[in-house]
Amino acid sequence: MRRSCPVRHNASAMPGLVIVGAQWGDEGKGKVTDLLAERAAAIVRFQGGNNAGHTIVREGEEFKFHLIPSGILYPDKTCVIGNGVVLDPRILLGEIDGLRRRGVDVNNLKISANAHLIMPYHVLLDTAGEVKLGKLSLGTTRRGIGPCYADKALRLGIRVQDLLDEKILRTKIRTALEPKQQALRELGVQRRKLRKEAGEGGGADEQQAVEDAPDPRLDLHTMTEEHVSYGHRLEPHIADTAKLCWDALDADKTVIFEGAQATLLDLDHGTYPFVTSSNPIAGAACVGAGIGPTDINEVWGVAKAYATRVGAGPFPTELSDEAGRHMLEKGHEYGTTTGRERRCGWMDLVALRYAVRLNRLTSLAITKLDVLSGVGPLKVAVRYRSREGALLDSFPYHQSILHSAEPEYEELPGFDADITACRS
Ligand code: IMP
Repeated sequence: MRRSCPVRHNASAMPGLVIVGAQWGDEGKGKVTDLLAERAAAIVRFQGGNNAGHTIVREGEEFKFHLIPSGILYPDKTCVIGNGVVLDPRILLGEIDGLRRRGVDVNNLKISANAHLIMPYHVLLDTAGEVKLGKLSLGTTRRGIGPCYADKALRLGIRVQDLLDEKILRTKIRTALEPKQQALRELGVQRRKLRKEAGEGGGADEQQAVEDAPDPRLDLHTMTEEHVSYGHRLEPHIADTAKLCWDALDADKTVIFEGAQATLLDLDHGTYPFVTSSNPIAGAACVGAGIGPTDINEVWGVAKAYATRVGAGPFPTELSDEAGRHMLEKGHEYGTTTGRERRCGWMDLVALRYAVRLNRLTSLAITKLDVLSGVGPLKVAVRYRSREGALLDSFPYHQSILHSAEPEYEELPGFDADITACRS
């Protein structure tokens, strides 16, 4: 689509390569990253946390990752969790242990000292916030992502480097914890009120006492102790990860920046507020890994041959018919992280054009074409029609227009052959 960046001194090399999701996530980025990782020296995650999930099958063995970059299965690649990632240390250690048990060497995993930690109170707040929103909930993964990024912006966040100093850690947890305890108490009171109004026996003294008791997960001492021990275990992996990227890029080695989630879930450019709390678009690789824009030579987008979305929010080409059911079942469209059914629909070229431009894609990988075999005539949305009848070629920037936009389709002949073994 566009020539490689002319700024690089070695035009034949592609040192900086960003891979992003071009739809609403789950496009198969992990698979594409895994294929390209063979040529790379390092694979870097630059945003998101364990809200992501990808499955890689290697020699018949299935591996599921949430935080660890896809390249970990190559023993000679450096795998980086960049400063832009939010990291739940308990989950990360679980993934490390799981890989070790299966004989995978994880010594090449490097973690930015500046990455922020998802703390137990972030997870509780994420869930409590969703429950409070009720029918208006966003359908988050409830992994604490939003509250963690909020604390980062509020400058109340706790970073990986804080795990290495108990005194600093305790002080920071104490400072961050106090407003959370208050917020959770208020949310609890509201919940009880709502239950009472709904006649669900919210007034039971026993239940109230349980809810009013201090939550053991929010005990300062226990939380500090636990996190000090996480720090001991993670210490060998903590590194100056921006410098690792610079050294590889300056030596013209390929570094892959692996996006999580996807363009339409971007906090600034996605379908706000039905988005994640980070920026999954290509531009964010610079901030989330500590590199400059001219370090990026190529940007690969990954899109499915149809579209899926998990959680709430606008999805113009969503299907509730047999074709959608076919995509769900044949495409195994169930979340890797939460197991939720994904909403399925036709490929949306209006949204895809938007993603192509927003990320300035140089290549596009289309995945899961085989799922469409046997569907009958295939449809692709080429434009939207607004409620007032206006034809829209571009992705609407106003939420009300997007929410009521009707897709206009072009029909293509379908195919019945099994193409799962096709390689060209
Ligand atoms: P959060 O990132 O958990 O706050 O969730 C916000 C929105 O992003 C919800 O609609 C989630 O379903 C969606 N989301 C987050 N991570 C992923 C992902 O890896 N794939 C698809 N959707 C995701």
